[in-house]
Amino acid sequence: MCGIVGVLGDHEAAPILVDALKRLEYRGYDSAGIATVNEGQLDRRRAVGKLVNLSDLLVHEPLLGKAGIGHTRWATHGAPSVINAHPHKAGPVAVVHNGIIENFRELRAELAGQGIDFATETDTETVALMAQYYLEQGNSPVEAARKTVARLDGAFALAFLFEGENDLLIAARKGSPLAVGHGEGEMFVGSDAIALAPMTDKITYLDEGDFAVITRESLEIRDANGELANREMRTIHLDDARIDKGGHKHFMAKEIAEQPLVIGEAVRHYLSADGNSVELPEDIDFTSINRLTMVACGTAFYACLTAKYWFEQLAQMPVEVDIASEFRYREPPVPGGTMALFVSQSGETADTLAALRYCDGKADKIVSVVNVAESSIARESDLALPILAGVEVGVASTKAFTCQLTVLLMLALKAAEQRGTLSAEDIADKLSALRGLPAALNTALEQDGVIAAAAQKLAETSDVLFLGRGLMYPLALEGALKLKEISYIHAEAYASGELKHGPIALIDKTMPVVVMAPYDALFDKTRSNMQEVLARGGKVVLITDRKGADDTSGDSWRTIVMPEIDPILTPILYAVPAQLLAYHTAEAKGTDVDQPRNLAKSVTVE
Ligand code: AGP
Repeated sequence: MCGIVGVLGDHEAAPILVDALKRLEYRGYDSAGIATVNEGQLDRRRAVGKLVNLSDLLVHEPLLGKAGIGHTRWATHGAPSVINAHPHKAGPVAVVHNGIIENFRELRAELAGQGIDFATETDTETVALMAQYYLEQGNSPVEAARKTVARLDGAFALAFLFEGENDLLIAARKGSPLAVGHGEGEMFVGSDAIALAPMTDKITYLDEGDFAVITRESLEIRDANGELANREMRTIHLDDARIDKGGHKHFMAKEIAEQPLVIGEAVRHYLSADGNSVELPEDIDFTSINRLTMVACGTAFYACLTAKYWFEQLAQMPVEVDIASEFRYREPPVPGGTMALFVSQSGETADTLAALRYCDGKADKIVSVVNVAESSIARESDLALPILAGVEVGVASTKAFTCQLTVLLMLALKAAEQRGTLSAEDIADKLSALRGLPAALNTALEQDGVIAAAAQKLAETSDVLFLGRGLMYPLALEGALKLKEISYIHAEAYASGELKHGPIALIDKTMPVVVMAPYDALFDKTRSNMQEVLARGGKVVLITDRKGADDTSGDSWRTIVMPEIDPILTPILYAVPAQLLAYHTAEAKGTDVDQPRNLAKSVTVE
């Protein structure tokens, strides 16, 4: 998604803006630009591709001024090009935008009717032209921006800069997140706290519909009704150490390696003092809940699919799991006794947030499992459960996924305790196994070399099939997503039992099949599926444990052996080889591991 930054500083704005944009690179982008006001003069520089191109341009064509705005663009309307890059400028107005203006065509027609010409295909240029129009009608910059924002439908975060105004930034939020940073005689604007971390840890998050007038010494926020609003200024503790690669080649590699640490932190966070039960920050009464609806997107959706098995098996809880973009438009009934649970790393995914709002006023309780505690989804939940994964920069989610699973498993154990479907002793046993998970994860990480060797083979193929049964079925789905999103190899996943219902037609010597199968109660059935694949010349990469490897020795093209653990924990453990397989395959193919093409870290537009 696009990234927005703004600064009213006492130093040259250009380097501050570019550095802040670098901290937003993880969101995904294809062009970037900045604008500044210098002695009243408004000017801009824009470049296609990575930020280094913008930095090079600024070396040759410097941009002075201590007030500025900046943007990384992930193309929605109009191809990636300099002319479509932000900031968009219309006369004395420059604007940067994250989101989509749904009614921009009507507004373009209205402006065209006033004889106004357009230079680009973008919805954002319409915003700049509309602000210029209101300025020319005699409005002040603040009123021109306010009237412009009032005309916009859709999801957006905006920052405005005006010619002649070197101590004024206007920020507006409707749907896409936006934060104001408080400095010493300086003020900042950013899409999130990460962008502003080097400048300040004092952050005010704008709420839906907020309109902020910012000077170096003041911040005036008005809500959607135009009333003065007093938004909390928070101190954000971003661990800077976690916002660099820590000696790894990629953020993704670092974040995969961090999993034993952060999962241990998540387990400890939700454990009771005696370690034998789960403690939530605010108790949930599962005895009054007779149905759980879980909604998410992408990897977070696969975390929900996994948790379905846990809630059903451990807590005998009826569970529905939905993809947010389907849920929000299907208008499903939300009967009494329903808990709606939303899982989201960023806490800003537009479809998941919309699904949460659909449940507001319908579900008995709205709970979220998020990695960004101040995110929109967290703030709009009755109870937000942090996963404590730390900042996840790689677009492909890894440690956030396994931390989501960890928290969801502990939630299922809490439900089992309250519904009396597991004894205190059984719960204590599962928690004891969970406490031992970091050690097992470290052992899994030691298989990196074997996995990298298997990945070299996958890198030569164009299609890969993933198979899994039971708890391994959602993991097969996640493994296929990881592989396709960073290596660009087509990969899909099936429940092993579905193989004979069609996918087996795909099998031949060119189609590697990744089988995820610990030696559990379903192993024999999956082994039969493996034999069906091998009998047709298929090549199997088997991810199993020692018993599984011994039971199938020699059958597989490659075997990756995981440590044996409580079967209930296998989804968390087996995520590691799936992640490493994707990582090394992508590395072998030379794709952009941390910022894969076309992808964004936080999908804040539909
Ligand atoms: C996962 O690797 C992808 N980056 C993507 O599917 C992601 O999980 C999805 O967009 C949901 O994001 P969220 O967890 O921030 O809501």
